[in-house]
Amino acid sequence: MDLGLQNKVALVMGSSRGMGLAVAEKLVQEGVRVAINSRDAKELKTVADELTQKYKQKVLPLPGDIGNFEDCKGILKETLTRFAGLDMLFCNAGGPPPGSFEDIKEKDWQTAIETNMMGTIRMMRMAYPVMVKNNWGRIVTLTSISVKEVIDNLVLSNVTRLGVVGAVKSLSREIARHGVTVNNVCPGVIDTGRWKELAAALAKKEKAPSKKILETLLADNNKRIPLGRMGSPEEVANLVVFLMSNAASYITGQSISVDGGMTRSVF
Ligand SMILES: NC(=O)c1ccc[n+]([C@@H]2O[C@H](COP(=O)([O-])OP(=O)(O)OC[C@H]3O[C@@H](n4cnc5c(N)ncnc54)[C@H](OP(=O)(O)O)[C@@H]3O)[C@@H](O)[C@H]2O)c1
Repeated sequence: MDLGLQNKVALVMGSSRGMGLAVAEKLVQEGVRVAINSRDAKELKTVADELTQKYKQKVLPLPGDIGNFEDCKGILKETLTRFAGLDMLFCNAGGPPPGSFEDIKEKDWQTAIETNMMGTIRMMRMAYPVMVKNNWGRIVTLTSISVKEVIDNLVLSNVTRLGVVGAVKSLSREIARHGVTVNNVCPGVIDTGRWKELAAALAKKEKAPSKKILETLLADNNKRIPLGRMGSPEEVANLVVFLMSNAASYITGQSISVDGGMTRSVF
């Protein structure tokens, strides 16, 4: 299938590792000119240099925090300056810390709202006018299956990601007639460093060894996944890149799971 992405420009937020990196790499493979982002400038530059060398195509590192308005403004401005346009935007950041209503403090609520909800909303707000002007564009957000079925002990994810889904649906309806689609991808259990992070946070709370908690978490998950295993970042990136392609021209406003069949909800 010809995805028709050659020479287009993509800004991939949260992409020095994990699913964001898998999306960036697949786009580079499709001949897209890609800007990558994360907060750790040094790690980001190393990743950009590796991709540039591997694919003989310049990948632009744009460090910054999606939770910070000025950073986001600067990242978008630099993308437009360096690539003279923007066709595709991928909105992503690290996940909020685990915890229940009882555990989570005011400051953590504010950070999660700024990062996981407002970060995505502000990037979409800043980027879509460029796409509307071109009469073509693709915006894909990354949330979680928590938007379809709440996950216990992940209340920050359960709440902030629903704001993103509302924004995706609203924006998709406002700009569809300009050839710009807006969709959301909902990963289930994906093999990235996020699981080590969650296990370390739980280990602290339960005063148990992190390795043991991680093994238990993953074994429990595998029992609940009909396909019987975690997904890979590349399996998520396959859907993201498809949604960004010409082949997905009639899909907009959707939240689609990549979860090995884990979610029980029908929609
Ligand atoms: N892995 C899973 O099973 C799973 C399942 C469902 C949902 N999710 C969600 O999907 C998202 C991506 O997950 P992942 O597992 O791929 O994460 P990951 O491996 O931890 O990668 C996160 C990436 O985002 C960057 N990042 C974090 N905070 C940022 C910020 N404020 N601004 C800009 N960049 C930021 C990180 O680099 P820096 O730290 O240097 O900024 C890194 O490049 C997360 O929100 C996660 O909660 C993950």
